[in-house]
Amino acid sequence: MARLDGKVAIITGAAQGMGAEHARVFVREGARVILTDVHIAEGAALADELGESAMFVSHDVARNEDWARVITEGEARFGPVTVLVNNAGIIGAIANTVDLAESEYLRVCAINQTGVFLGMKAVLPSMLAAGGGSIVNISSISGIVAIVGSPNLAYVGSKFAVRGMTKQVAVEFGGNGIRVNSVHPGYVKTPMMVAATDEDGGGAASAIPLGRFAEPQELSNLVLFLASDEASFVTGAEFIADGGMTAS
Ligand SMILES: NC(=O)c1ccc[n+]([C@@H]2O[C@H](COP(=O)([O-])OP(=O)(O)OC[C@H]3O[C@@H](n4cnc5c(N)ncnc54)[C@H](O)[C@@H]3O)[C@@H](O)[C@H]2O)c1
Repeated sequence: MARLDGKVAIITGAAQGMGAEHARVFVREGARVILTDVHIAEGAALADELGESAMFVSHDVARNEDWARVITEGEARFGPVTVLVNNAGIIGAIANTVDLAESEYLRVCAINQTGVFLGMKAVLPSMLAAGGGSIVNISSISGIVAIVGSPNLAYVGSKFAVRGMTKQVAVEFGGNGIRVNSVHPGYVKTPMMVAATDEDGGGAASAIPLGRFAEPQELSNLVLFLASDEASFVTGAEFIADGGMTAS
């Protein structure tokens, strides 16, 4: 038996990077997966490649009405959603706090923070009806510690918020069999990381005890565990996968 047999999962931001890898792993492990993203062509192509167990729905996580459409279309094809991976996120501008424009702060929060709230709000009724579920919210090590050297208040604030909202919803819905956890990656080789650093991250790997960046698959392994029933007693917790970066 595969590790996600019988699960119906929404993965946001699944057109590329970690979200795409989570989708591949979830389908391989028996889940039916609703991939969502603002990048329509790439997301649809990946869903096609993954076959019958996957579908793509265009989706801006910051828009409540989009969430309603994702749930309606996804459940019409696969049935009640029992797993949500709130993965979509953006970095936004690197700027010191005095120079950070309010509009940029709000743009980052709309996607990274409000998007996670709207996602949980949208799937909870399905999970309540199904008798349980697992929500995995992708934060960052920037939801554990501040970023030294490249100031980004909006990103750090939104990722700390994801960690807090995770605990709140875990406490509210634990009695309903709904588990909620946050994942805190360090540097992972995705288009986001390459865009935010130069090439392979400049000298950043030297600050990582394991001496390298993660492959997306290494984060998928953790997300897979949290989504599966193997994590049946795990909720309200944060999981750091950063090669040891925040250990000192
Ligand atoms: N790559 C890293 O080093 C790293 C480290 C820590 C945390 N993270 C977090 O992991 C998650 C995935 O990051 P990644 O590195 O794979 O990024 P990525 O940029 O490669 O992929 C993110 C995906 O999210 C989608 N997206 C952006 N805005 C969206 C919106 N409004 N609605 C729906 N989809 C949207 C993008 O189109 C893209 O496909 C993000 O939340 C990110 O903050 C990444």
